[in-house]
Amino acid sequence: MKGVVFNYLAEMVEEGFGLEAWDSILQTTGLTGNYIASETYPDEELMTLVDAAHDKTGIDKKELIRSFGRFILPNFREQSPQFFEAHNDLKSFLLSVDRMIHIEVRKLHPDAALPEFDYDDELSSELTMYYTSPRKLCFLAEGLIDASAEHYKTKYELDHKECMHEGAERCTLHIRFLD
Ligand code: HEM
Repeated sequence: MKGVVFNYLAEMVEEGFGLEAWDSILQTTGLTGNYIASETYPDEELMTLVDAAHDKTGIDKKELIRSFGRFILPNFREQSPQFFEAHNDLKSFLLSVDRMIHIEVRKLHPDAALPEFDYDDELSSELTMYYTSPRKLCFLAEGLIDASAEHYKTKYELDHKECMHEGAERCTLHIRFLD
């Protein structure tokens, strides 16, 4: 993962729990916390930090990762507003994640650690996103979807039907748009 992702995690923990909490997390993991935004660091370091953040705060790991997704999205929006401006609704934005956004990200950062999404968008009020990634950050995707829904002021229900964490080959994120 890119250093920028680790820097966002530090920011989220510091905002929520204070600088002291992040320092103590770094101490227990033995990591320095010096991440250069554009450099690539081992994926496992992110999981180590999430584990330590869970130990420190007592917050469920899935919920921590979801919150992290909610935290990251507004930062993505600030840096790349054009991806949001190109779409008027949540469904077409979510369809553009794999078909456009991550393709553009890959052009700029060929070594970016990106997931793969397949879609089933046959029904107008529903969308199924099939998530595959060796990092199994499906709960990050849930948080990113949640913050995107907030951006588009859209109510939705998400059913995480199959999960890689439960042995499935891919996660099935079924979204029903309520508005
Ligand atoms: C403007 C919007 C977006 C931008 C600019 C963006 C860009 C990125 C970048 C830079 C990374 C990290 C790459 C790395 O660390 O090497 C990433 C990872 C990821 N993105 Fe996006 N993204 C956007 C929206 C979304 C949305 C809406 C979703 C969910 C539906 C999503 C799902 C993910 C996931 C789950 C990862 C973690 C890596 C993995 O699962 O393997 N992204 N994205």
